[in-house]
Amino acid sequence: MSKLAIAIHDVRAHYGKGQQRVEALKGVSLDVQRGEIFGLLGPNGAGKTTLLSCIEGLHHPDTGAIVVASIDVLRDPQRARRKLGIQLQSAALIDGLTATELIEVYAALYEVYPSRSRILELLEQFALVDQAHRRAKQMSGGQQQRLALAIALSTDPEIVLLDEPTGSLDPAARREVWRMIRTLKNQGRTIVITTHGMDEAESLCGRVAILDEGRIVACDSPHRLIAAADVRPVLKATVELPLDALPPLPGALEMRYVGERLEIETANPEATLQALYTVAQQYGLHRCLASGHFSGIIQHSAAQTET
Ligand SMILES: Nc1ncnc2c1ncn2[C@@H]1O[C@H](COP(=O)(O)OP(=O)(O)OP(=O)(O)O)[C@@H](O)[C@H]1O
Ligand SMILES: [Mg+2]
Repeated sequence: MSKLAIAIHDVRAHYGKGQQRVEALKGVSLDVQRGEIFGLLGPNGAGKTTLLSCIEGLHHPDTGAIVVASIDVLRDPQRARRKLGIQLQSAALIDGLTATELIEVYAALYEVYPSRSRILELLEQFALVDQAHRRAKQMSGGQQQRLALAIALSTDPEIVLLDEPTGSLDPAARREVWRMIRTLKNQGRTIVITTHGMDEAESLCGRVAILDEGRIVACDSPHRLIAAADVRPVLKATVELPLDALPPLPGALEMRYVGERLEIETANPEATLQALYTVAQQYGLHRCLASGHFSGIIQHSAAQTET
């Protein structure tokens, strides 16, 4: 059996035509080893989701080759897709169905029919047992993200593709999802995850590729990328706090406002983030952080992290 879970060679892909044509991937090559958590990091529009769509066989590249678990995706997309668990954006969950029904419906698309006990096991794994008979639209953002993970796992895939699985989650919910993703790795699965945050990549991934404008500009372990870039993590939050009245935040090196956005350079993003969250709660602003005004952590931004 090949050690490679995914092999991508010189993939180019575009959208639209004529004046509307966008070159989304401009010759991407990378290998994902079996059993690793591989991160795709990059700014908005870098091409991360397009690359996942190509791996899933949903977007057909103009040139190049993609092999998933030794299956040529371009020749046999359906067989390749059976090796993949694909995390749907929570917006794609059908509102009217319950968690249990959604798992059943999505698995059935792959001709997999999980037993009641397997569904219960999935709900337990993703802390959703109490949500089994609730509809997706009644769930919190974190519960929907976890349900999307449970659905991705419903076919017991070798390889799991996660597109921003923690986007818009508060710090505690993010860590909970990270814990669940690590469990998937411990089960021997291969995981590819897209993210905007180097902290997320650092916490989860053995290797990270940084995509920028359709090209891979660096690929290495998060630690080596950070060391090479020699930049400090920066937390960014759209939250109004009086800087001179704040208690010292662990790890925080420098705090400033850039327009309405608070930026904190930190040596320990996790600890700073947790403390910031607690302070925001004391000021009654935690809802603001949890509801998407907080961009999470954008540290060692891709633009700075060039080799
Ligand atoms: N359906 C589409 N039609 C036209 N252009 C698209 C489409 N989807 C993506 N693009 C364009 O392709 C490029 C790559 O987009 P993609 O969604 O892959 O980026 P991304 O790295 O996932 O960004 P984000 O971090 O915002 O999710 C962008 O220029 C984007 O505008
Ligand atoms: Mg995307």
